[in-house]
Amino acid sequence: MFTLTDKIAIVTGSSKGIGAAIAKTLAAQGAKLIINHRNSATEAETVAQSIIEIGGQATVIQADVSQASEAQALIKVGVKTYGQVDILVNNAGITRDNLIMKMKEADWDMVLKTNLSSAYHCSKAVIRPMLKKRYGRIINITSVVGLSGQAGQANYAASKAGIIGLTKSLAREVGSRHITVNAVAPGFIPTALTGVLSEEAVNSIVQQTPLGRLGKPEEVASAVAFLASDEAAFITGQILSIDGGLVMQ
Ligand SMILES: NC(=O)c1ccc[n+]([C@@H]2O[C@H](COP(=O)([O-])OP(=O)(O)OC[C@H]3O[C@@H](n4cnc5c(N)ncnc54)[C@H](OP(=O)(O)O)[C@@H]3O)[C@@H](O)[C@H]2O)c1
Repeated sequence: MFTLTDKIAIVTGSSKGIGAAIAKTLAAQGAKLIINHRNSATEAETVAQSIIEIGGQATVIQADVSQASEAQALIKVGVKTYGQVDILVNNAGITRDNLIMKMKEADWDMVLKTNLSSAYHCSKAVIRPMLKKRYGRIINITSVVGLSGQAGQANYAASKAGIIGLTKSLAREVGSRHITVNAVAPGFIPTALTGVLSEEAVNSIVQQTPLGRLGKPEEVASAVAFLASDEAAFITGQILSIDGGLVMQ
């Protein structure tokens, strides 16, 4: 794996699921972590404790990153705690699925604010310290659904497609300062987020996946660790699918 010794990383929504796996993987490679959650304080503390137990450093910060002021505060506390932020992983995300004719405006707004605006708020807040340092890694978690679309997920797919546009635009803005901005697009990974899907829907996804299985949070995390590393210094504006071949670009 790739060395991230003493790099400072903030992972939004890292109390569970993919975010927790990313935080633990970055910590295992030597990064010092800010664990963020909105409601799941106990789970976030458990993730931090598991990092501390392997000799790492982790601090838990509660913040609803869909709110500009809270996202700004999260980055500010991160910089204050460790002196800088080298790696930002915009991972926090939710679903509120429905067919568009039944979709409530509140569910459209909440998904866009949580999945897309959060990445804008956090990236905006972290970019100044990164520009100052002339170094940074921003990794956004999009989804294969942002590439392919998905019936019943117009809000979620729009938010994830938006993440791709944000990733490519910001990569162009900050590349000259040695800051890279990339995204990973997971396929189906069993977590609380996907727990609502029926067995039939899950089986259908497996059947459409060339590798014939679901993914693991750790498999997304190792791709993020690579993109966060110095070895990935010449990669920016890219969308890396971690989906067993489900959606080939
Ligand atoms: N699982 C999949 O198959 C899959 C596929 C493609 C992409 N993704 C993406 O991967 C990311 C992680 O998903 P997951 O499956 O790991 O979901 P998850 O298990 O439900 O975890 C979501 C995390 O996001 C946090 N979060 C939600 N809203 C937040 C907010 N406003 N502010 C701060 N934190 C917030 C949650 O914290 P609280 O519990 O405290 O709210 C939790 O830690 C999401 O962006 C998702 O869209 C997942």
